[in-house]
Amino acid sequence: MNQILILDFGSQYTQLIARRLRQLKVYCEILPCSTSLKKIASKNLKGIILSGGPSSIYDKDSPKTDTKIFELGVPILGICYGMQLISHEYHGEVIKSKKREYGFSLLKTSRLCSRHAAGSQGAMPNKRPKTSRLFEGIPKEIKVWMSHGDEVKKMPNGFKNLASTPDTKIAAIENKQKNIYALQFHPEVHHADYGLKILKNFAHKICLYKDSWSPASFLNETIADIKKEVKNNSVICGLSGGVDSSVAAVIVNKAIGNKLYCIFVDTGLLRAGDKERMRAVFNKKYKFNLKIADASQLFLSRLKGVSSPERKRKIIGKTFIEVFEKESKKIKNAGFLVQGTLYPDIIESVSVKGPSAVIKSHHNVGGLPKKMNLKLIEPLKFLFKDEVRVLGRSLKMPEEILMQHPFPGPGLAIRIIGDVTEERINILKKADKIMRAEIKKFGWQDKIWQAFCVLLPVKSVGVMGDERSYENTIAVRCVESVDGMTADWSKLPYELMQKISSRIVSEVKGINRIVYDITSKPPSTIEWE
Ligand code: XMP
Repeated sequence: MNQILILDFGSQYTQLIARRLRQLKVYCEILPCSTSLKKIASKNLKGIILSGGPSSIYDKDSPKTDTKIFELGVPILGICYGMQLISHEYHGEVIKSKKREYGFSLLKTSRLCSRHAAGSQGAMPNKRPKTSRLFEGIPKEIKVWMSHGDEVKKMPNGFKNLASTPDTKIAAIENKQKNIYALQFHPEVHHADYGLKILKNFAHKICLYKDSWSPASFLNETIADIKKEVKNNSVICGLSGGVDSSVAAVIVNKAIGNKLYCIFVDTGLLRAGDKERMRAVFNKKYKFNLKIADASQLFLSRLKGVSSPERKRKIIGKTFIEVFEKESKKIKNAGFLVQGTLYPDIIESVSVKGPSAVIKSHHNVGGLPKKMNLKLIEPLKFLFKDEVRVLGRSLKMPEEILMQHPFPGPGLAIRIIGDVTEERINILKKADKIMRAEIKKFGWQDKIWQAFCVLLPVKSVGVMGDERSYENTIAVRCVESVDGMTADWSKLPYELMQKISSRIVSEVKGINRIVYDITSKPPSTIEWE
């Protein structure tokens, strides 16, 4: 598939570049800057973007890339560190800025004389000065996002200066002949004026990318690949009912029908209604081979007396694998395991130096395939979460599956602070169900990344009727986020908060106080444990 390749030099914005390109229907992949030339050249390249990064090119261990990429004959765009690298490569001078430039700045683009823009040598006095193709359709002055400590002081050989800001004289450059462009600012960040347009110009006018990529572009190819690989084997899928495993299972089912065996482990730590929805959607609607393994008592007995978050997670992870393995052994001729791995899971595991480097999640049951000796099928591994939703929609999957909030593998156990008992699970389930119903009723379900209740081991005094009560506390946590990496608490309408609070206190026995969590991530996490 034609693509623009993003080489990652460790910037916190690298993934954003990819998101922006895909928003423009341009397929792209991210590889670490250290990737071999052979691998880079093996891609169907229409262009390459060199990302920013936290280093200075003069640092001893600064990330480098094979400079032969400049001879591959594809257009190149350097962003921030990428620009400094290009300048260094072409004998410009990069220096430490007098002051670190961080935040918005006003970029003034220079008009190139038309002969430069037209690429010819002759003077054309009657023609209006033109701009670089990179800035076509963009006003002369725009607001850009800067975040850099170094800057280009002396122009690299063969390049023209395209723009400047009050603090940075050389803020965008091009060498039209070599098809190399560079920006000191970050066009990929959300609040940059015309950032998307600049990336679009690069993709369409410079790289001449003509395709119209969509998350479903892979579908036919993926289905054909799965068919070819699986042959007569059986395929196992740990179906949690979440967006990723559900979409992955539907794709694999399209490829191999009832050779797919789905296992849903009921840990007893699921939300009210989760199991019933699994039955309704996957048994009744899709008629999958779905085994619901009820292991709730086993999980409960293992969690007895355990209050440490880390131990809870370990016990649940281990027990999950045990139950899953036992069930999968009953499936004859199993050779493959479906996983709903997403693109960020793969990018994160790429080790690039710098602060944004590997943020390894503790989230997924990664031990499964190794132990079970099964080959992996990962039909979503080049997609971002919202793209999986788009793909699910093109497969006509129910919205209630596609638009549900993420739910952690260890389930309600990490939302019950302290001991996990059947009684406390039931209290939390009831409160959580009410909260979710009210959020839906108010039309806030899709405005929120995640909404859930946490049961605290804190009792407080209240008055109910004429009597004093001494009961538990529920914390309500609602957050907005793009990817779960950072999050802000949702500013719910007071009316909705009030409804959630009054309904839970009056309908859930054992709760007499509701508090709302108003911390962002960082410094807090989304879950409480
Ligand atoms: P935190 O709490 O780390 O969560 O801010 C970020 C996102 O990850 C989810 N999460 C998990 N998902 N297994 C999962 O599949 C887990 O063990 C797990 N722990 C946290 C969390 O709900 C949020 O969406």
